Amino acid sequence: MLLQTIKAIVAQQTTKSLADLCQDVDRYEQLNCTAAGLTLDTSRQRIETSQFEALCQAADQSAFSDAFQQMREGAVINNTEGRAVLHTLLRNPGSTLEDAATVSSTLDKMRQLATAIQNGEWRGHNGQRITDVVNIGIGGSDLGPRMIYRAMLNYRKAGITVHWVANIDPADIEKTLSSLNPDSTLFVVSSKSFSTPETLNNANAARKWLVDNGVSDISRHVVAASSNVKMAVAFGIDETNIFPLWDWVGGRFSLWSAIGLPLMIGLDDGVFEDILAGACAMDEHTQSTQAADNLPAQLALMELWNSEAFSVTSRAVLPYCHDLRLLPAHLQQLEMESLGKQVTKSGDPVTYNTGGVVWGTEGSNGQHSYHQLLHQGTQNIAMEIILPLTTHADPEQHLKLIANALAQSQAFCYGQSEGEAQQALLARGMDEQQASLIAKHKAIPGNRPHSIITMDALTPSTLGALVAAYENKVFLLGYWLDINAFDQWGVELGKVHASAIENALTSGDASALDKGYNDLINRYRRLL
Ligand code: F6P
Repeated sequence: MLLQTIKAIVAQQTTKSLADLCQDVDRYEQLNCTAAGLTLDTSRQRIETSQFEALCQAADQSAFSDAFQQMREGAVINNTEGRAVLHTLLRNPGSTLEDAATVSSTLDKMRQLATAIQNGEWRGHNGQRITDVVNIGIGGSDLGPRMIYRAMLNYRKAGITVHWVANIDPADIEKTLSSLNPDSTLFVVSSKSFSTPETLNNANAARKWLVDNGVSDISRHVVAASSNVKMAVAFGIDETNIFPLWDWVGGRFSLWSAIGLPLMIGLDDGVFEDILAGACAMDEHTQSTQAADNLPAQLALMELWNSEAFSVTSRAVLPYCHDLRLLPAHLQQLEMESLGKQVTKSGDPVTYNTGGVVWGTEGSNGQHSYHQLLHQGTQNIAMEIILPLTTHADPEQHLKLIANALAQSQAFCYGQSEGEAQQALLARGMDEQQASLIAKHKAIPGNRPHSIITMDALTPSTLGALVAAYENKVFLLGYWLDINAFDQWGVELGKVHASAIENALTSGDASALDKGYNDLINRYRRLL
């Protein structure tokens, strides 16, 4: 197993500090790879080039590309649900797999609806053009497409705005509806299962809002993306307006499917297809490239390395790109729902770390918030800086954003010694005693492992490639950790409890619950 090799490599040799490692001029060539418009620089990870070579050799020996190919060809690798994992098919128009035809006819149907809405052929019940589309969905039926929409606003279709409602907190849908006109609003109920309570509650609220506001025929105002046609029809959606999903698409991998319908409607023609093409290019790269030059494999290997060598179980994703500010939230579901597992595929308890914590927000905002802890805190955290080198916005101001990204990288890498801090304070005229005290507080150890992902520009294609790179990384980590990255049993228990607690809140009978919950439920009922 790859992890054993990593343990052995870690045990053989201690790694020099990043400041020392980065003096090796050859290092930058070797710890750098490009794919589908992205460049990944791992030279600022705490790994010797000899260790890197051994790691890549072991990865190649694990036959990961064969395993990836098998997934793309429909192997049933989600063993606890007996399902194939074929989200890669959704972005591979050239595929010869049996399901390719239905994927392509669904894409055609999505494009037809999008075009009809955009050119005004599809109108609301009283002939008004659709100007607002509200996606109602949660988890993978929200985070991925919402993140893409935010990232691609420069390609927004004029005259159409997409809104996103996920939370069961009624404030979410009420706030969204308060600014909309029912005659010109279309809802897309996005739910693979069509049984997720958050989504069904919000969909019911939307239907009520339409009807209460005079839309008696909701068929021009509500469509669905779902694999559960029966339930969607029972809800009142015209069967012809239900866009299918398949059991081989996991929710967190579904933005490429009909779950992306609001993107097709709300973005310019061809943008969604270019996103798919960028993702497909990343899949081809992942399957055909050796570990040392394989971008998703490098992302995965550095994570395993940091976990094994330095007990890093937390990673901050820092997009220096305002348009990518929802990416960390999408990655939280993609990575933590996939890799937060405690048993191997055959059910044995794991004896090593599986998925870590993923978090982050857009740079440079975080620098004025949590970067203090990244620079001087006691936690071992790895970072990933994501940086498009050009922008649609003002280039002069963008240059400053780039400067900030690289400055953070430099500080993560080299830090500042107590002596350096003291010299600077003395040069400013501070007395020696004070300078020696303050210097202790100003010392920054550096040596913080991080990678830098760059692209010439954030385009539909590079965005597709970026998201697919993370998906493929998740596949590889699942493979190397011997866990099922495609089920999510851990989220089910809360759903069962929520339904029982809802009954207790309604009926007042909380006898099945402990005293603490009883007291809280009674307090709630007294407030009604
Ligand atoms: O509860 C977790 C989950 O099943 C996610 O995996 C999924 O993305 C989300 O709920 C929404 O599910 P659905 O699309 O079926 O409503």
